[in-house]
Amino acid sequence: MNSIRGWRGLSMSKKITLLPGDGIGSEIVAEAVKLLQCLKQDFGFEVELESAAIGGAGYDQSGQPLPDSTLALCKQADAILMGSVGGPQYESLDRELRPERGLLQLRASLELFSNLRPALLYPQLVNASSLKPELVSGLDIMIVRELTGGIYFGEPRGIRELENGEREGFNTMVYAEHEVDRIARSAFDIAMLRNRKLCSVDKANVLEVSELWRDVVEDAAGDYPEVALSHMYIDNASMQLVRAPKQFDVIVTANMFGDILSDTAAMLTGSIGMLPSASLDKDGKGLYEPIHGSAPDIAGKNIANPLATILSVAMMLRYSLKQAGLADLIDTAVGNVLNQGFRTADIADGGNSVGTAEMGNAVVAALRALGDS
Ligand code: IPM
Ligand code: MG
Repeated sequence: MNSIRGWRGLSMSKKITLLPGDGIGSEIVAEAVKLLQCLKQDFGFEVELESAAIGGAGYDQSGQPLPDSTLALCKQADAILMGSVGGPQYESLDRELRPERGLLQLRASLELFSNLRPALLYPQLVNASSLKPELVSGLDIMIVRELTGGIYFGEPRGIRELENGEREGFNTMVYAEHEVDRIARSAFDIAMLRNRKLCSVDKANVLEVSELWRDVVEDAAGDYPEVALSHMYIDNASMQLVRAPKQFDVIVTANMFGDILSDTAAMLTGSIGMLPSASLDKDGKGLYEPIHGSAPDIAGKNIANPLATILSVAMMLRYSLKQAGLADLIDTAVGNVLNQGFRTADIADGGNSVGTAEMGNAVVAALRALGDS
């Protein structure tokens, strides 16, 4: 067994804050918890877990989508694992009180500016993609999305009334040089660990903010001579992603462009239920979450796919907790359960499927088997 028990008492245990959130959030986080408990019991990985409310659950508990106590716990943690936020029952609330606002506040408060969204196609699921197998087999893209700036946070913003009584809505897409520089460097660093190709996506033919973005990315490139940098306009990039996605290695882009492109990239892999994400600050502390949403229509039915959340734990081990060995084990365990034929409904392609808990149990069993071998 891969035990590092000898360190007990010497090594400091890692604190993970769990934020199940809304919809299917609590079901999928529960499966990730099984996995973390297995790492603790069987692999000697010292971890302390504490849960807190966010999103609609935060609002129900304390009238705020990001309760103060939740933010305080997140600040103390070594890493945060979130399920998902949002649900139809919260849609009529004031904008400030909506579940999504809690997540945005958390990203901003912790300065989680670098959002890593891998789009990785599992060979076992090649037929689940909406594109032809030859276009996507072997697909492995990393989208690096700027997460705490741009039009999501820019001021001024609002809805105002004009003199003629008509209402006008407005937002501001704004980036300071340091914000572009740090996300560019984050993306260059990741490109260095991969195939050393970086494509920066913008709208520099129309927007001044993108013109500056391009300049700053070019400047940062001087420190990464081994990375081949290219630039693409967002409209073309969205077309290229569905035309010939394998041309990309790492993509870096602004907050809203990244929001859109990452959903497209996710669909290329066939299942949004398989994709994890990391949102990191400058020191690598991070919030980890599946990229799919709260799926209220299937909540509480034990049919959601827990693999994106389980793979988010692997990313957490890799990026924040510096446990690449354990991260590799989880990735391998997930590959093994797919090889064994386990499928939740979203990836079953009309065949037999298992429930959320059964899939979680299968991954734990596969992980134990790897520890025993
Ligand atoms: C995402 C989501 C969020 C975003 C929402 C829930 C605020 O779409 O993480 O991609 O737009 O960033
Ligand atoms: Mg999104």
